[in-house]
Amino acid sequence: MTAQTPARLGPATAMEDATPAPPCAIVIFGAAGDLAKRLLIPALYNLAARGLLSDRFAIVGVSRNAMSDEAFRAAIGEGLREFATEAVVPGVADALLGRLFHVAGDFADAETCRRLRDRLAVATTRFETDGNALFYLATPPSAFGPIVRNLGAAGLVREEGGAWRRVIVEKPFGTDLPSARNLNAELLTVLGEQQIYRIDHYLGKETVQNIMVARFANGLFEPLWNRNHIDHVQITVAETVSVEHRGRFYDATGALRDMVPNHLFQLLALTAMEPPTCFDADAVHTEKAKVFDAVHRFTPDEVGTHVVRAQYGAGAVKGKPVTAYRAASDVAADSHTETYVAMLLHIDNWRWAGVPFYLRTGKSLAARRTEIAIKFKQAPYSLFRNTPVERLAQNFLVVGVQPDEAIALQFNAKVPGPRLRIEGVRMVMEYKDYFNAAPSTGYETLIYDCMMGDATQFQRADYVEAGWSVVQPILDAWRARPGDGLAAYAAGSEGPREADDLLARDGRRWRSVA
Ligand code: BG6
Repeated sequence: MTAQTPARLGPATAMEDATPAPPCAIVIFGAAGDLAKRLLIPALYNLAARGLLSDRFAIVGVSRNAMSDEAFRAAIGEGLREFATEAVVPGVADALLGRLFHVAGDFADAETCRRLRDRLAVATTRFETDGNALFYLATPPSAFGPIVRNLGAAGLVREEGGAWRRVIVEKPFGTDLPSARNLNAELLTVLGEQQIYRIDHYLGKETVQNIMVARFANGLFEPLWNRNHIDHVQITVAETVSVEHRGRFYDATGALRDMVPNHLFQLLALTAMEPPTCFDADAVHTEKAKVFDAVHRFTPDEVGTHVVRAQYGAGAVKGKPVTAYRAASDVAADSHTETYVAMLLHIDNWRWAGVPFYLRTGKSLAARRTEIAIKFKQAPYSLFRNTPVERLAQNFLVVGVQPDEAIALQFNAKVPGPRLRIEGVRMVMEYKDYFNAAPSTGYETLIYDCMMGDATQFQRADYVEAGWSVVQPILDAWRARPGDGLAAYAAGSEGPREADDLLARDGRRWRSVA
């Protein structure tokens, strides 16, 4: 706890006692794109710096841009220096860059995969990667199906002679329930389910992985973790970033599709799931799937009363002026796309019946904060009715995911002194006090897991579809009434008033994001 010097309870970093991944080649489709530059290459660098990549390792980038291996290495090197999350050690960076190859071509063109096959063969021989290959689809979702078909046709995903072939599929996994089902069906015509790694980078974050550990490795929380003791749950993913340069993607996507069936639902599932029988991919996935099966599906009328959509107008985030969403580049001037969504969900099962789950996410908000706040039922006040105590603070257990990596418990304590006074206090466990691990985006952990063949922190087809089926009634209702009920909030605020009303109706309030 904060008051004393914390004892070290475990290894200083999550990965320092891990073994290097097996030899392999990573093929990145979309290697010149934003995701590769900002997140994937820095993640691979971090793995290399920690000795977690095999010495027998190569990267083949596929992009539309015609460029030589040398030009590609220079571009990736520049991106790495700009986006690295840790200090770049020249020796490590050079060793990584020296293993890069580039293949140019259209993702939908079968010829690209034939050329890739030849380059991959060169990389495999030169760096002795044993024929293992991880294909990372860091492309727009429309390219997922064609790429996998072409990989299949080029014989690149056949697992022969003990070598493995795996495919990481980025989000968004579909844009609604039918498209997610089609994509799953399409991938499964070429790949076995055990070859498909549907990524959600939130599952690679240490604080997210710790939710299951906190719940199931302690005897303390679980007895209280149910409708008898919990009043409600608030799940918040608040961002300060605006749409920035992603207008084209974002205006066609919106906050609901971009954040809810993936990141917020992962947090929901980890909070609400039953204990799995063991810590193995299928057992964990099965319990998560049951949560989504139990979520009450909205009727069209309930979408109007239980879901708030809003768009930011001009304002200032942390003192910096932000123009209105509709003025951002590649955004339609009359866009109805939501940049904020809040909703009230119910989980109709024995553990959670009657406990509201309030979810919210938005861009250009007052602060960056991802947290799960569990509000326990109020203690009876009767004991204090003839004392000066006027009210009790609320009991919250707050799991801070980012930027505050912490678990905090809020409870009541007596204020020292002769009069009976009670005040809310906080007991806080901060990761940085115990563990010497820099916050990670989640990508390195997940790429490493995939190379190790561990799919626990990836998503299974059934629960991706179950997640979409929860949001599908919202998409249907919004499509039927475009723009109807779209609320507004100023950039830099806590969100729209309508989201406050959603809780106020039930006599509750959001925790402040700031
Ligand atoms: C991405 C979304 O999946 O997650 C972005 O497309 C969002 O819009 C991002 O900003 C948030 O991730 P993180 O790790 O910064 O919380």
